[in-house]
Amino acid sequence: MASRGGFSNRLGFIAAAAGSAVGLGNIWKFPYEVGENGGAAFLVIYLACAFLICLPIMLAETAIGRNTRLNPFGAFNKIGNRRWGLVGLMGVLSGIMILSFYNVVAGWAFGYFIQIGFGGLLSEGVNYGEYFGGFVSDITDNLLYSIGFMVLTALIVAGGVQKGIERWTKILMPLLVIMIVGLISYGLTLDGAMDGLSFYLVPDFSEITANTFYTALAQAFFSLSLGMGALITYGSYVGKDDSIVGAAALITVADISIAFLAGLMIFPLVFSQPSIEANAGPGLVFVALPGIFETMGSIGPFIGASFFLLLCFAALTSTVSLLEVPVAFVTDQFKTNRKKTVYLVATFIFFVGLPTMLSQGASDFFTNFVYYGGEDKDFFTLIENVFSDLALPLGGFFIAIFAGWSWKNKGFQKELYFGNAALEGTFLEKMIMFMVRFVSPFVVGAIFIISVLQIFFN
Ligand code: PHE
Repeated sequence: MASRGGFSNRLGFIAAAAGSAVGLGNIWKFPYEVGENGGAAFLVIYLACAFLICLPIMLAETAIGRNTRLNPFGAFNKIGNRRWGLVGLMGVLSGIMILSFYNVVAGWAFGYFIQIGFGGLLSEGVNYGEYFGGFVSDITDNLLYSIGFMVLTALIVAGGVQKGIERWTKILMPLLVIMIVGLISYGLTLDGAMDGLSFYLVPDFSEITANTFYTALAQAFFSLSLGMGALITYGSYVGKDDSIVGAAALITVADISIAFLAGLMIFPLVFSQPSIEANAGPGLVFVALPGIFETMGSIGPFIGASFFLLLCFAALTSTVSLLEVPVAFVTDQFKTNRKKTVYLVATFIFFVGLPTMLSQGASDFFTNFVYYGGEDKDFFTLIENVFSDLALPLGGFFIAIFAGWSWKNKGFQKELYFGNAALEGTFLEKMIMFMVRFVSPFVVGAIFIISVLQIFFN
């Protein structure tokens, strides 16, 4: 254990796991998915998925990691068998592919920080929707920003678990929350704010389709960093006397709160600008926020640049956890030097991300890459659909089945008792087991089947 490193204590783990969870998923993705899926009704389903389905899986992942002290592949091989190892392998692969596109979007945030802070982006008459379209298809700028982001990620991961990952998260997360709360207060003073709030908070269940459930489920997995073993990997650095039950609950609450606040920030701002639609899609924060910063006058560029900088930080504590998964896999399985592995894997993933970068208008081939679900999809959407929307719930399904049914000698329960001996025989323990065995796998399975049918055959 000493050679693999570890978190300094339970708070260190909570901070790092919350840092992994809180990221672009909360601030970039969650709001636009709410916007595209009818508002408050989506929010309600999302919350249910997070607590009822994902929280038990988070416990399972952390327990598997701590018990084996290995990466997802090694972990499943050790306490499962070769076939379970495949689930771990799928997780490692998903981590690589998710990081490949995540790094591109993080590059956009980084670019907006530079352009607003130093490039004079916030000037009158700029159409931010058009600007965003031009920005993402400009390959030279994007290359620079995403290389920059990958380098930062690699440096932190190379710094190790405690000094790198843990320390930075503890500093940056609180700043992000302060910034968001500030923007919420500002947004609520604007005309149209109340329409935004009612869109976000008053559910209209007639808007719900099968797809709403699936999108909410996939988003919950993505936002909580579940289903690919990121928390198996982080769990492998948790001490035996730290209780993981309370920790998982805290991480979930922290992640959900920040997503919720991000919605509270964005919808009043969106509805205060008549030119912006809530269903604007992946460009939503990049289009809605600059217009607002512009109205702030001379402090606008400062506030705007700070916001995107903090968004970068939130993304950074997530890219770090994504990179940690394949790095732990390679170092555990092949006994390689950690630092060298970090730089090698990061470089590899950067290249894997190039088609995604090109798929936002720069290359026709990657922009209209495949046809399914009734329209041409770009390469980014394909990778996101397969390795995030499909692979994470599927991975979560198997993780729950493993912990609930297949882990021998009550391995899962026993792992939960470490640091929490009082759990044995309690109602809480029975609840956890019930959720892991029945609720998580069956609900994920049901939603999964329905939506695979929908995505590919509609
Ligand atoms: N949870 C992160 C976010 O919301 C993304 C992520 C997914 C990180 C999977 C690690 C593993 O931005």
